[in-house]
Amino acid sequence: MAPFAHARVNVDAITSNARLLRERAGGTPLMGVVKADGYGHGMLPAARALIAGGASWLGTAQIKEGLALREAGITIPVMSWIIPPGEPVGAAIEADIDLGVSDRAVLDEVVAEARRLNLPARVQLKTDTGLNRGGVSRGDWESVVEAAARAEERGLIKVSGVWSHFACSDEPGHPSIQAQLDVFHESLGIADKAGLTPEVRHIANSAALLTLPEARFDLVRGGIASYGLCPIPDLSVPGLRPAMTLESKIALTKRVPAGSGVSYGHRYVTERETSLALVPLGYADGVPRAATNKGPLLLGGRRRTIAGTVCMDQFVVDVEDDAVAAGDYAILFGDPGEHTDVPTAQDWADALDTIPYEIVTRVGVRVPREYVGDS
Ligand SMILES: Cc1ncc(COP(=O)(O)O)c(C=O)c1O
Repeated sequence: MAPFAHARVNVDAITSNARLLRERAGGTPLMGVVKADGYGHGMLPAARALIAGGASWLGTAQIKEGLALREAGITIPVMSWIIPPGEPVGAAIEADIDLGVSDRAVLDEVVAEARRLNLPARVQLKTDTGLNRGGVSRGDWESVVEAAARAEERGLIKVSGVWSHFACSDEPGHPSIQAQLDVFHESLGIADKAGLTPEVRHIANSAALLTLPEARFDLVRGGIASYGLCPIPDLSVPGLRPAMTLESKIALTKRVPAGSGVSYGHRYVTERETSLALVPLGYADGVPRAATNKGPLLLGGRRRTIAGTVCMDQFVVDVEDDAVAAGDYAILFGDPGEHTDVPTAQDWADALDTIPYEIVTRVGVRVPREYVGDS
């Protein structure tokens, strides 16, 4: 039985985006970021498609995501970087996963696990250059670097990378960008003085990869752009192909008189006699409730807007006198290169005052992913 709704993921689009990002980064090696289930696209298909497009590293937030890549037989370098206390650090060392270390306590935990396993850990030290989120603070950098250098001398770890993350790379020209690059250079100098020889130095996410050649270093981390969405709404990146299309069958239609209140709270009232179409996707499926009276979609060949409150499992569209019937498909977002006039995840983000990352990663587990393409 075919599902009535699905997120169709074009893996060839992901592969072609990876190729494009490598070109845009002047051939700098690409880490495909596949955290959060490949930004909602499915981690393993996304990982394979990225590798087919030339990604030579994969990045995940959580160790369990990195381990899942290894369990699936993926052997290229993998890095995982969110490591609260008690995470399976030992399993990550055994699986040859690079650990993004943001803190002295995590470094100590990794060194202790490496000693217990008698297996050197690959550590990528993260310097907080100004995001003030994860990463070793400027004041602690020297001492953490020295501790890492001592552990490296004893053969317990290899400092395989030094890295950081931008706060405002999606706002080209923002003064924090150069300030962060300056601190990154300073951090690299301190690591160099301590005798560390990282294989990779990296700071660029998609936005920096697309706009800042001076931020490329040895590796660029491509997340959102790998999935065909641009981190800078006003930047045109010819050739980037949105990989996900979210669509659903219409469950039913009905004719209602003028003045009918629609859905919970009657937040939409029909202006005249009209037809309503019911779309069986709701906030449990990742259609934000904030899309009430705002979310765009393509139905019956026309752009429409959600009418009234988005419920847990469904929402309504006013289709006026269009010949829409149960079983027809509504496309919430997709690739305008495939369907004329289709809204994009960026359109949803604009309508909801958010970013396209949130739109695609939120598509719920109840919505099956359907894969098309050869990668
Ligand atoms: C540390 C780190 N690097 C890279 C990325 C990828 O960023 P983007 O999706 O903007 O390319 C992220 C995503 O949030 C991240 O947290």
